[in-house]
Amino acid sequence: MQNKLIELKQEFILKLENTVDIIELENISKDFIWKNGKLQEILKWIKDLSNDDKKIIWPEANKLRDFILEEIEKKEVQIEESKYANIEELEKIDVSAEYTKKPLWHKHPISITSNLLEEIFISMWFKIEDGPQVENERLNFDMLNIPDNHPARDVWDTFWISDEINKNKAPWEKVLLRTHTSPVQVREMLKWTLPIKIIVPGRVFRYEQEDARHTCNFYQLEWLVVWEKVTFWDLKGTLETAMKKLLWEKTSLRFRPSIFPFTEPSAEIDVSCQICSGTWEKNGKNCSMCSGSGWVELLGAWMVHPKVLSGAWIDPEIYSWFAFGMWIDRIAAQRFGVNSSRMFYQSKLKLNEQF
Ligand code: DAH
Repeated sequence: MQNKLIELKQEFILKLENTVDIIELENISKDFIWKNGKLQEILKWIKDLSNDDKKIIWPEANKLRDFILEEIEKKEVQIEESKYANIEELEKIDVSAEYTKKPLWHKHPISITSNLLEEIFISMWFKIEDGPQVENERLNFDMLNIPDNHPARDVWDTFWISDEINKNKAPWEKVLLRTHTSPVQVREMLKWTLPIKIIVPGRVFRYEQEDARHTCNFYQLEWLVVWEKVTFWDLKGTLETAMKKLLWEKTSLRFRPSIFPFTEPSAEIDVSCQICSGTWEKNGKNCSMCSGSGWVELLGAWMVHPKVLSGAWIDPEIYSWFAFGMWIDRIAAQRFGVNSSRMFYQSKLKLNEQF
């Protein structure tokens, strides 16, 4: 009997030595000391022994039982600890390692400028509005006081949607790619929720001879205020604040009288050219951005024409109104020192990756 206990102990020690995981360990403990385990099998025979033998074997068997329990416990701790022994090595993070951040995308300079403009105007409590890029003729021209045959239509010549689509439509309902964001002024006035204080950033299209300042599609930002007691100084003040924030503190604005069919009176507003710093010359040549004038036209502006207002049933006795439409591309060119707006549309990685 004693030999059996010794053999069992050896078998247990051998099995335990080769165990490396908790489930295996549990199986060993089942196998050796649980009910119907190997030790229990041996103990069954004890009852047939003489009393003297029993006195010797019982303590031996209990000792072996305690030994097995103790060893299993130790092994369990050992297995648990070994799990974490290499953890520092395995999960090491070298915070001093060199890490170069390489974004997979770049924000386009026009988006950056447009977002900045939006932020500036939102901080002045303007609401952002949107309008369709495919506009109808009536809103793009007629309701802005540019009827058919008006010579100003040449200045805003555009791309018409195919004859197939326009074929059966009344002349004023034909669709075209909008030439400016100004039709959104009319859309907003027709909602009849006064006062109006909006900006409309968006893409516009022109049938245009391309050069440093002109492209077939570009981005504008429309500004419209219809409110009690607003004056020209509000328009001037807002504009100056925005341009100084976007360009630089020393930026000067120049107001020139002009003509737009949808404003009366009208003005064009120029900004001192940041490409040549108003010196008219860049690399020994006339600056291409300002054509050597030192000024770049940024926007058209002033009071909405009474005909446009009456088309939207707004009472000029109560309200005053101002509007402007600015060229986001030109502001982006000025802000980032890009000497031709055309470069914004040429997918030049060399340019885009700088932003
Ligand atoms: N829509 C004009 C253009 O694209 C710009 C403009 C001029 C907008 C005067 C206005 C304005 O709101 O009042 O050339």
